[in-house]
Formats: sequence, structure tokens, C-alpha cells
Amino acid sequence: MLSSSSPLLRRLALNQIPRMMAVRAASTSAPAMGAAAAAAQPAQPAKAPRLKTFAIYRWDPENPTVKPRLQNYQVDLNTCGPMVLDALIKIKNDIDPTLTFRRSCREGICGSCSMNIGGSNTLACISHIDPDLSKPVKIYPLPHMYVVKDLVPDMSNFYQQYRRIEPYLQRKTPAPDAAKENLQSRADRKKLDGLYECILCACCSTSCPSYWWNSDQYLGPAVLMQAYRWIIDSRDEFKAERLAKLQDPFSLYRCHTIMNCTKTCPKGLNPARAIAMIKKELANA
Ligand code: SF4
Ligand code: F3S
Ligand code: FES
Repeated sequence: MLSSSSPLLRRLALNQIPRMMAVRAASTSAPAMGAAAAAAQPAQPAKAPRLKTFAIYRWDPENPTVKPRLQNYQVDLNTCGPMVLDALIKIKNDIDPTLTFRRSCREGICGSCSMNIGGSNTLACISHIDPDLSKPVKIYPLPHMYVVKDLVPDMSNFYQQYRRIEPYLQRKTPAPDAAKENLQSRADRKKLDGLYECILCACCSTSCPSYWWNSDQYLGPAVLMQAYRWIIDSRDEFKAERLAKLQDPFSLYRCHTIMNCTKTCPKGLNPARAIAMIKKELANA
């Protein structure tokens, strides 16, 4: 066993001293050098704030005496992400936690952040903030819907209508090989393109004047496009029944080809065409 006074330990300790001194010198001199270099650099002028006004619809069912109103918020675009949803999240986090809106995926997939921005129905998460600071951004909930709170519309009727079209595969005969999938040709699968991508955001339906006035009976473009998606699916065996359910004066025929639906769809889909195709199927039935 070595004692602390042994010559070997003393030699080892003496060997460590220069290394320890070098480490200490490096750790103290680096910030000092950094500070000197920073002092040599010209000071960066503070960025001028780029204040953008967001005028947002507010209504709180728990304060029914306060009428619906637009409330202004100012956001510095230097410290905010580029999308309208970024600004809404910043307002909620930093300015007013009572502001209420829906959002989930923040990349145009879930359909929950649909609202009326600058006069158009769209998704807040894929809408760029207009960099012109002189123009406020006006944000309302989707039009002609009952409002739950602030920017949150009541989607119950919309989902009820979606349920009505039975949006799932229905067959009368078992799949050719019961243990396997119902296969379809590439050509038949291709017919679903432009239809299956719908995220049910309801931007199209709530931009349609026919839907505004008759949403209790007219199914609206979003739901009708999904009805068509199942009508033309080669694996589904209820095409005739699906078409028959649409053959009344309101469910389908309240579409008067106004085209707002296709113009506003944030996913670039064409519900007006799908409605026209259902009418054609019915005419040929
Ligand atoms: Fe939204 Fe477009 Fe689908 Fe309409 S068709 S619900 S606007 S994704
Ligand atoms: Fe409405 Fe579109 Fe038809 S806006 S009337 S559903 S073409
Ligand atoms: Fe999902 Fe905007 S947050 S579509």
C-alpha cells in the first residue's frame, strides 16, 4: 500500500500540476477572449418591432350579456412563426389565455383549425401571415355555424350529416377470399384520387350559400364529395342504395353550381365536380 508521503505518489501529483494549470487557464481565458472579441464587434442595433394587428371574433357563452365583438391584438412578427396559427398560439400563450380556437396537427392534416381568415374559409396552420403591417388580419369562425366559443364552431350537424352517408365499405357478398382484403384494380383505385384526401374541415360547406340557408336538409359539398367517394368505390356493393338516399329535393339538388366550395378548399380539391358526377350517376341510373 502506498502512503501519501511515498515518493511515487509525490511524483504523480507533481506531474498533474502543469496539466491542471493549463485546463484552468483555458477555462478562464476563453470567456475573456470571447468578451474581447465581442467588444471589438460593432453592436447590432435592436430589431425594430414589426407589429401586426389581428382582429379576432370573441364571444363567450358564460358572459351572455357581452355581445360578440372583434378584439384587437398586436403581435411582433419578429418573434412569431409565419402562419396565422402561430400568431393565434402566441396571442393565447403571451397575451390572452382566454382566446379559444381548435388546432391539432399544425400542418393541414387534421382539419381542426378551419376558420374565416381575411374573408376566406381556410386552415390557419397553412395560411401565411400577410407581411403588410398596415392591414389588420380579420379572423372569424366558419360562417353560418352556431358558435361554441370565440373561433370554435359547433360541428354537430356537419358530423351528423357525414354519418348519414354511411362513410364505410358495405358489401352484400363476402370478399372473394374471406381471409383477405377486397382488392381493386389500379384504375379503380385511381378513381378515388382527389376524393379520399378530404380532411373534413368544412371550409367548403360553410362557404356555400345553399348550405347556409338549408343546412338542416342539404348535405353540403364536403359530405356529398364523401358520398361520391363511396358511390364510385369498386369494392362497395351499395351504390344503388347510396344513390337512392340522395334522390330528394334537398340532400343533393340544393347545389346550384355556385362553386364557392371548390374555390375555397384549402386542400385544392373539387367538391363541385363530385356533386356534378353524382347528378350524372343519378341521371344515368
Ligand atoms: Fe375541407 Fe376541401 Fe374536404 Fe371541403 S373538400 S371539407 S374544404 S378538405
Ligand atoms: Fe354550393 Fe359548391 Fe354547389 S358552393 S351550390 S356546393 S357548387
Ligand atoms: Fe390541423 Fe390546421 S391544425 S389542419
